[in-house]
Amino acid sequence: MQPVLTSKTFGFSPKGDEIHLFTFSIPDQIEISVMNYGATWTHLLVPDRNGKMEDVVLGFDTLEGYLQKDYQDHYCYIGSTIGRIAGRITDNRFHLEGKTYELPANLNGIHLHGGMEGWDKKVWKSEPFETHNSVGVTFYYQSQDGEENYPGTIDIWVTYTLDETGRLEISYKASSDEKTIINPTNHAYFNLTGDFSKTIEGHGFFIDAEKYLPMNQNSLPTGEIANVGGTPFDFRNLKTINEPIHRNHPQLDLAGGIDHCFVLNQPEDCVVLYDPESGRKLTLSTTEPGLQVYTGNYLGNNFKGKNGLTYGKRTAICLETQHFPDSCNHPEFPSILLMPEEIFQSRTQFVFTAE
Ligand code: BGC
Repeated sequence: MQPVLTSKTFGFSPKGDEIHLFTFSIPDQIEISVMNYGATWTHLLVPDRNGKMEDVVLGFDTLEGYLQKDYQDHYCYIGSTIGRIAGRITDNRFHLEGKTYELPANLNGIHLHGGMEGWDKKVWKSEPFETHNSVGVTFYYQSQDGEENYPGTIDIWVTYTLDETGRLEISYKASSDEKTIINPTNHAYFNLTGDFSKTIEGHGFFIDAEKYLPMNQNSLPTGEIANVGGTPFDFRNLKTINEPIHRNHPQLDLAGGIDHCFVLNQPEDCVVLYDPESGRKLTLSTTEPGLQVYTGNYLGNNFKGKNGLTYGKRTAICLETQHFPDSCNHPEFPSILLMPEEIFQSRTQFVFTAE
């Protein structure tokens, strides 16, 4: 069925810019909302096996929720677009064309998710659209040369599209006037139970990945590309998160759970998240080589979210499709270089079913 697009004012940014909330929906099947503050995915309502529609992504009911200090102080990036570079960067620096770029440290002395004021905190331009079989919105932002000390002016477009089958796609397109680096992602937190007082430990999880990236005590890849076989990181068959996540394994101790990048074998239906209680299932496809999985280890009931609920450890899971973290310091990883004559493109699709 052809989806319907509506929009409303969600509030005003600290600088007084109007923030719009766009909602795409197909009755009884799916309802998605996104806003132009941080090009953020705010709501996702999908039915359980009895047709009950519930919200399955963390977030806030109002823009003020996203702007509250208690939330901003905890670096959770709920539903946001992350850029220029997702994840952390070793020693807060990288080298390009014989120059060293020093990046600002925003969390515990480390540059994370774009820095002090990443793309998650920018007000984006919005262009809603409708085609014969889809609706959506394209968010646009121009990241100036020198922003957060990165080189080159980047034009970035993030498009959320809902098609007539109920499939959601997030796509990215970017260009730069200078040689630079880019590795954006979306930071939605999923909990398919629709009840944010529950954890995601009972979810089934499948990742088509033979390898993952072990990390060091700073949550940065060591450079090793390790086999998942025989480790808690083996999700090659759908299995409940509960069991592997409580195993004794030094890599789990480092992050209090999973906070690791998986090397995807292939793009189609390469990730599945399934909640046996509600029957809700998310199947993901992506053009990106990596999936950063973060099991909400650092959520600590520090701020009030939707319906006044606080979000505790493992309330949700992030499935961040991207190139590998810290690629700018690992020439052996797939390149995140963006040349002036190139167009950066990336696509991730989400299909929601209930069984
Ligand atoms: C990172 C985590 C971080 C979380 C929230 C994830 O993408 O991998 O280490 O705590 O984002 O900022």
